[in-house]
Amino acid sequence: MIYFTGKNMETKTQFFTTPIYYVNARPHLGHAYTTIAADVATRFKQMDDHDTYFLTGTDEHGDKIVQAAQKQHQSPREYVNKITRLFQDLWPRLSVQNNQFIRTTDPAHIQVVENLLTRIHDKGDIYFSSYEGQYCFGCERFYQDRELVEGKCPDHGVAPATIKESNYFFKMGQYQDWLIDHIKTHPGFIHPRQYETELLSFLKEPLEDLCISRPKSRLTWGITLPFDSDYVTYVWFDALVNYISALGYPDGALFKKFWPTARHFVAKDIIKPHGIYWPIMLKAAGIDIYAGLNVHGFWNVSGSKMSKSVGNVTDPVAVTDRYGVDAFRYFLMREMVFGLDANFTEDVLVSRINADLANDLGNLFSRVLSMHLRYFKGIVPAMTTAPDISLASDARAAIDGFQKAMTRYEFHKATATVWQFISSMNKYVDMHEPWKLAKATEKRPLLAAVICNLLEGLRTVACLIYPVMPGTSEKMLTALGMTIPEKGFFLLDQILSWGQVQPGTRLAKPPILFPRIDVPAKDGSKKKTAPADRKKDAGVTPETKPVITMEDFAKMDLRTGTIDAAEKIAGSDKLLKLQVDLGTDTRQVVAGIGRQYNPKDLVGRQVVVVANLQQATLMGEESQGMVLAAGTKKELVLAGFDTRVPPGSPVK
Ligand code: MSP
Repeated sequence: MIYFTGKNMETKTQFFTTPIYYVNARPHLGHAYTTIAADVATRFKQMDDHDTYFLTGTDEHGDKIVQAAQKQHQSPREYVNKITRLFQDLWPRLSVQNNQFIRTTDPAHIQVVENLLTRIHDKGDIYFSSYEGQYCFGCERFYQDRELVEGKCPDHGVAPATIKESNYFFKMGQYQDWLIDHIKTHPGFIHPRQYETELLSFLKEPLEDLCISRPKSRLTWGITLPFDSDYVTYVWFDALVNYISALGYPDGALFKKFWPTARHFVAKDIIKPHGIYWPIMLKAAGIDIYAGLNVHGFWNVSGSKMSKSVGNVTDPVAVTDRYGVDAFRYFLMREMVFGLDANFTEDVLVSRINADLANDLGNLFSRVLSMHLRYFKGIVPAMTTAPDISLASDARAAIDGFQKAMTRYEFHKATATVWQFISSMNKYVDMHEPWKLAKATEKRPLLAAVICNLLEGLRTVACLIYPVMPGTSEKMLTALGMTIPEKGFFLLDQILSWGQVQPGTRLAKPPILFPRIDVPAKDGSKKKTAPADRKKDAGVTPETKPVITMEDFAKMDLRTGTIDAAEKIAGSDKLLKLQVDLGTDTRQVVAGIGRQYNPKDLVGRQVVVVANLQQATLMGEESQGMVLAAGTKKELVLAGFDTRVPPGSPVK
């Protein structure tokens, strides 16, 4: 969206929102992901020269909140103030830069809800009627029979209660064809594509009218209907309106400037309210429809849905206290394919930190700056022209790939693109062997060119990682002697120009960006996974086997797999039963790693599978393949990769 601010002045604008979170529980990993994703998208748009506005907040009315407050012997207001503060305090800790934090208890919000209800009621789209239906208290909504699974709520697994009461309803059916047409004629309105398909398939069934009120006899903690003081409005007619009340609808300058570019970030759990109720509410009220909806999948933790009873609700504060904010942000963006579910385990987080951050990026950074210090006494040499060894075209490819992926909200691809460039720089160091060039005086100009290219490459990386890892970006740019613009980042257009690390600048000893994390071994001792340590390991003499041909080798179907579930086999302390996702199918594999690995630590881990091994039965359990491991009987270690690869990738 181009917004005209005055004569010949054009500003591209962008408005991003997160859901406003219920305050019936403390913030967790899921809330952190959506908010960080929206923050990353906002920071990227800023780099793409947009004027941005980023909104988050809390949803504070409703039954659930009243119940949660009662449990804590607090009034709803005391309770919401307390939990809301946790969200408000969390965002800066996660380097989230929201422009506003809205609460549905804000008087200005309440006024806009009343305004909207009045308009839609006056128009005749809200009516009063008696209703008997299946109500799930967990979801706070009525269910239609066809939505229930074996008579139970699909989310809570409990049979809904039959409730009869008079209420206000919002007529939605008349807008159904319009909405279908809007979705079909606005590609990208619902993103990614699979959720557009999901919504359109839902819209094949006639839309039921939406119950939007609760009698005050049952609930008082809500916004009173402007046309009936015996009722409060309920859930979505209150919550969704935050997106415009925050901007000062109808006359606010923010509303005029930012509403036309609104894109909401949500997870798949609330796609219907956002993809159906909300556009229809806007249409009924005569307000322009938002520009788009970005829907992501769910984070499971150690293979299971996060839940208090399982005890796997992940606290973002604890994770960042332990591993750092930038590492956490990077992990979330890199690990989840936007739109699909992902699995969080501390093991996978640690291996990403060690492989991608400490090793690939951190080592490169410290290696290059240390060589610079050693060979040029820390003074940036003049960039000698050596076009055949320039990294500029790789840098351009990284910038283009990054920009393309970020524009499509493909955060995993955007980060992977930057890491591809990092990997090509690591290869560049190995290929040019600066330590050898440093030994010959006549190679000095070449050495200068190699080091300058690497410094420029690191500068490019530092600029590109800004949306995901703002702290690391700043550390790197500072160490490279760059003057960071006041706003904290370089515009995309400013990154490419080669030769920005100024000759003559003195660069100091580099800071350590990401210390390698010690992985606790089973015996409780700390084991470093650094290659340097591995060299010291005592070798074993392998049993020699007959030579095989390439054809023999090609007969093996070796593939990567992701462990979806793992459990001990009763009666054996050695055997584990694994369910391994091979991309095309999920296999049960029995593996003799039970003494070395705890089943719960294996979930989410990537392994190498012999996929065409004849089926076998071990301790009564079928095994449809084999996972590869190395070591002795006592110390068996699974074979894996230092970076994640899609399940089913052939191992070559
Ligand atoms: N209050 C409503 C939203 C109203 S928006 C007008 C609500 N609140 S919620 O606290 O339940 O938040 C749901 C949102 O939290 C999801 O859509 C998603 O953004 C985030 N997540 C909660 N759990 C999640 C995961 N396990 N994984 C990823 N995100 C999840 O619904």
